[in-house]
This record gives sequence, C-alpha cells and structure tokens, in this order.
Amino acid sequence: MRTLDEPAEGPPHDAAPAAGASVSQRRWRTTVGLKVLMAVTGVVLVTFLVLHLLGNLLVYQGSTALNSYSAFLVREPLLLWVARAVLLLSAVIHVGAAVLLWARDRRARPVRYRRVARRSATVASRTMRLTGLGLGGFIVFHILHLTAGIIEPVPFNEHDVYRNVVGGFSVGWVAAAYLGAMVLVGLHVWHGAWASLRSLGVSRPSPQPKRRPVAWLLALLLWGGFTSIPLAVWLGWVR
Ligand code: HEM
Repeated sequence: MRTLDEPAEGPPHDAAPAAGASVSQRRWRTTVGLKVLMAVTGVVLVTFLVLHLLGNLLVYQGSTALNSYSAFLVREPLLLWVARAVLLLSAVIHVGAAVLLWARDRRARPVRYRRVARRSATVASRTMRLTGLGLGGFIVFHILHLTAGIIEPVPFNEHDVYRNVVGGFSVGWVAAAYLGAMVLVGLHVWHGAWASLRSLGVSRPSPQPKRRPVAWLLALLLWGGFTSIPLAVWLGWVR
C-alpha cells in the first residue's frame, strides 16, 4: 500500500490505460515532475550546505584560515555570483514546487482523512513545511547577520569573518538561535534526502522504510558539524 508520505511510485489505479493520457495520468505526471524538481534542487542545496560546512569548519584552524577562505571567494566574483545565482534559483524552484504540490494536495483532498495510514511517517516528514518555513526565516536572519552585517550583535567587520562568527556566537541568544535552527536543518535534510532518493528512483521501496542510511549520514553530518561551531564558541573552546 502506498502511504501519503511516500513519493509517488506509479499512476493512481483509476488511470486509464488507453492511448492518450487521461486527466488523472496527466495529474500524476505533473506531481512526479514537481517531486523530481524538488529532489534535484534539494540535491543542489544540500551540496551547498556540505561545501558551506567544510568552509566554516576552518574556524577550528583559526582566524587566518577562515578569513583567507572568505577572501578567496571575494577575489573570485564570477565564481561567487554564479554560485549565488544557482543557489537562489534552486531555492526559488524548490519552494515553488513545494507550494504547488501543497496546493494540488489541498485541491485533490479538500476534506482531510480522519485516519491516515502512515507506514513511513516520522516527526520530520509531518513537519517538512514547518521546518522549511523556519529554515527560510533562519536564512534571512543569517544573511542579515553574517553576510550583510545588518543584525549586529557585535561590531561587524567585512574583512574579519572569524571575528564576526566568534563574536556573534559569544552572544547567548545568537548561539541559541543557531542551535535551534540547526535542529531544523537536521530534520529537513533527513526526510528530504530520503524523499529525494525515492523521487529520483535511486532507492526503491523498502520493507523497512525507516531504515535510511544515506539520509541519516547526511543529516547527522550537517547537524553535528554546524552545531559544533556555536557550541564550541559558547563553551570557550574557540575564541
Ligand atoms: C554554524 C553554522 C553556520 C555558520 C558559522 C555560517 C557562516 C556563514 C558566514 C560566515 C557567511 C558569510 C560568508 C561571507 O560573507 O564571506 C555565511 C553565508 C551564508 N550562509 Fe551560512 N553559516 C552557518 C550555517 C548555515 C546554514 C545552516 C545555512 C543554510 C540553511 C547557511 C546558508 C548561508 C547562505 C545562503 C549564505 C550567503 C552566501 C552568500 O554570501 O552568497 N549557513 N554563512
């Protein structure tokens, strides 16, 4: 039985097999198309997150390492702006496809089921829209904090990323906000990675849908890596 949380595996059983696509077949294809778009843009966004984490982990090597990495990006404006454009486009498509899927879901089922068979449902899958919304809010806050320097818990210096990061995380509410946001990252990536692999046909339906080694690995890596930075500053290990 297909559950509501799983990416579509095939056309609905009322799809007409005759030549020429029926309405339900066309709908199913559009839904699959939107899910594939979400999956592909999700892969781009997670790739950015992995690279962003690797760059940020340079904080453990000290200010010269982190500031040189940041200065390198500034010296390569073409690379920086192409990466920014790809990132922004992916984010817009990802959110747009999510909104369209949500609207189709609402239209197809205006009266919600009272009981739903959720074989693979988890806290993460049930809260994808909420964690996605939270992440959107975090990204706006984060850019205003560390890229634009508009939210300034400590004086901002665009040539000293290390000081901006370490100084920022020394402020309790800033560190707490980042620690909370990283839980959203972990939950969203955990379910998103699993759903993307299914939508792209990389992983097949399993009798144990909650066994998700790749999703676990990615989510733990990103959550743990990002969380370690405000935590290390807060504990005084990085100063
Ligand atoms: C502890 C965790 C994190 C730290 C220390 C951190 C650090 C930074 C820093 C220093 C910048 C500014 C880079 C510069 O202007 O040279 C930045 C930019 C950015 N970060 Fe993060 N980041 C963290 C987590 C995240 C997460 C989880 C996301 C996404 C969900 C994210 C998304 C971004 C984006 C989109 C930018 C703007 C990139 C640009 O300038 O084009 N960051 N981050």
